[in-house]
Amino acid sequence: MERVTTVRDVRAWRRSAGGTVGFVPTMGYLHAGHVSLVERARRDNGRVVASVFVNPTQFGPLEDLARYPRDLERDQGLLEAAGCDLLFAPPAEEMYPAGFEAVVDVGAVAAPLEGQRRPGHFRGVATVVLKLFGIVQPDRAYFGQKDAQQLAVLRKVVRDLDVPVEVVGCPTVREPDGLAMSSRNSYLSLEERKAATVLFRALCAARDRWAGGERSSDALRAAMRAILDAEPLARADYVSLADPLTLREHEGAATAPALASMAVFLGRTRLIDNLLLEV
Ligand code: PAJ
Repeated sequence: MERVTTVRDVRAWRRSAGGTVGFVPTMGYLHAGHVSLVERARRDNGRVVASVFVNPTQFGPLEDLARYPRDLERDQGLLEAAGCDLLFAPPAEEMYPAGFEAVVDVGAVAAPLEGQRRPGHFRGVATVVLKLFGIVQPDRAYFGQKDAQQLAVLRKVVRDLDVPVEVVGCPTVREPDGLAMSSRNSYLSLEERKAATVLFRALCAARDRWAGGERSSDALRAAMRAILDAEPLARADYVSLADPLTLREHEGAATAPALASMAVFLGRTRLIDNLLLEV
């Protein structure tokens, strides 16, 4: 695997790469969730590119940009073992040189939930991912269902702007106790880590009600809230039952597929998770 830091080097590599190219954008500090995306890209494509870039424009002024975990050497080893061919790890000046101004204004799908709590977040995500697509020029790009609204936002941008990249959504990889893998799990104290299973337990409560025929969106949201409220270390930021493509909140009877999702604080750490409720 080659590791490069400039747009110029990626372009040179791309010109000589035959066959299809699969791309996995990341912010690094990789775990088994990221690795599963690289493995899927490996199966589907002749060549695989991953990027590691902690994108400053998707962090709010009070968020965790400065303390976001980083370990590029370890990331490089994991990517190489997963069969990645090229690692693009640019410095911020390479992505945002002086005078950089253009941004992607995403529209309504970016407005609720994460977009409402993190103003400008999806503008930053959509802009950096579109830039990365322009640099790498992949045939396919792989994203986790873990970040369901991000996936919906990127599908919308690619469709609206006719970006010639196939967006592939991949299943959420979980710890044995159900906690969705996340680089931010490393912030949790031992007690918070134990309490963090509450997200998956709340989602499973909704899934079980759904399987039992419950379709009232209020009842399904209440079932999730009840589990969260019973965990003293957890504080719910939002609990949602929404359309997975538009992220519009369901009112009254929900239709399949419905996206049950939540953001929950454990101490200062904010975790998100979701489950798709299908027919
Ligand atoms: P990051 O949080 O590093 O995640 C990179 C990719 O890994 C995303 O597509 C995310 O959904 C996926 N992922 C994270 N946890 C996962 C899990 N437990 N199972 C499966 N996939 C998982 O998302 C970002 O970075 C950034 O916003 C980015 C798209 C790179 C733009 O900066």
